[in-house]
Amino acid sequence: MQKESVYEQTYKQILAVTDGENNVIANMATVSCLLNLAFEDYFWTGFYVVDPEKERELVVGPYQGTLGCLRISYDRGVCGAAARTGETQIVENVHEFPGHIACDSQTNSEIVVPVFNKDNELIAVFDVDSTKISTFDSIDQLWLEKIINNVFKK
Ligand code: SME
Repeated sequence: MQKESVYEQTYKQILAVTDGENNVIANMATVSCLLNLAFEDYFWTGFYVVDPEKERELVVGPYQGTLGCLRISYDRGVCGAAARTGETQIVENVHEFPGHIACDSQTNSEIVVPVFNKDNELIAVFDVDSTKISTFDSIDQLWLEKIINNVFKK
C-alpha cells in the first residue's frame, strides 16, 4: 500500500479513538501506538514534552520503541531544533546532523514535528526515527502535521 493510503487510514483511526478525549497523555499514547503499528519503518515513535519546571528542556513522554533519552535541551539534537524553531525538521541522515543525539545507534533518519495546543503554545515535539536513510519526505510531514494539529489543537 502507498504511504498516503496508510496515513489516511491511520489518521481516521486516530481521530476516531481520540474523539472527545482531552487528556494529553492518553492522546500522545494513542498517536504513538497507532502510527508505530502502521509503518514498519517507524522504529522509535513518540513525544518529548516541554518540561514546565525546567527552562528550554524537553522530557520524554509516551513512546513506542527502544529506550529513549530522558531529557533533551532545546539547544541539542533534532528535537531541540524543532522546539526552538517551531518548525518540522526532516533529517535524511542523522549522522550528518550537527548535535544529533544518538539514543539508539540504529537510527539513521528522522522527522520531528512540533506540537502546539489550541492557544498555539508549544507543548511537545513528536519524533519518529527510522533505521533507514531518507525515510521521511514532504508526504510524511503533511500527514504528521495534520494528525498532530487535529489531535492536540482541540
Ligand atoms: N533523535 C533525537 C533524540 C531522541 S531519540 O532518538 C529517541 C534528536 O536528536 O533530537
